[in-house]
Amino acid sequence: MKYVPNDVPEVDKWTEVNLVYESALAQMEARLKVLNSEFQMVHNYNPIEHIKSRIKTPESIVKKLKSKGIEPTIEAMVEHVNDIAGIRIICSFTSDIYRIADLITNQSDLEVISIKDYIKQPKQSGYQSYHMIITVPIYLSTRTVEVKVEIQIRTVAMDFWASLEHKIKYKFEGNAPQYIKQSLIDCAQMVSALDDEMLRLNDEIRKLTEETRTEHP
Ligand code: GTP
Ligand code: MG
Repeated sequence: MKYVPNDVPEVDKWTEVNLVYESALAQMEARLKVLNSEFQMVHNYNPIEHIKSRIKTPESIVKKLKSKGIEPTIEAMVEHVNDIAGIRIICSFTSDIYRIADLITNQSDLEVISIKDYIKQPKQSGYQSYHMIITVPIYLSTRTVEVKVEIQIRTVAMDFWASLEHKIKYKFEGNAPQYIKQSLIDCAQMVSALDDEMLRLNDEIRKLTEETRTEHP
């Protein structure tokens, strides 16, 4: 059942909403840690560098609803804001991103609501990342609810770019001078080239190690 807050006084409703989204984040983090450990066991390497998660602040939830022309109520935020619970997964290589996305997609009780692949099609700003909106079941005492979580998966290099671009956007309130925007686009291309080259190099090293292993069993 889609998550809808219980019909209780507003203060209690807010507490419930927080608990539900915090639980969704905790649940997803735990599952990702399992996948990472298992991957380490089987393949001897970690596809996940690190994970960050956050609950959107009430201020930015209200701002988002207002920008969409929606009256900011607790019901409206649960219905219309998909990134109240957000997880960012940072990987070493682009191939890890798709591997993680597949593993998430294959978990039978998670439902993928939408996917935006800004790696295959970067944003105009140069932004690259793989976005998924999923729902995760949360088992409450009297009901099970499907809770939305936004997952952003990106490489270390893409993350480096995104955090600098975010700072610049914030500093200039979205109106950065054209030459700065252009520099960011140039940097995004370098990020993409770096990610490709690091992946190629990693594959090459892996092949060499495998050859050595077969030569000297
Ligand atoms: P909102 O932008 O959240 O209203 O939703 P949307 O439907 O446009 O989703 P989208 O997938 O485009 O972006 C969701 C999130 O991705 C944002 O809240 C940011 O965290 C991140 N993001 C998207 N575009 C950019 C960008 O150009 N630069 C940076 N630094 N982050 C971005
Ligand atoms: Mg957006």
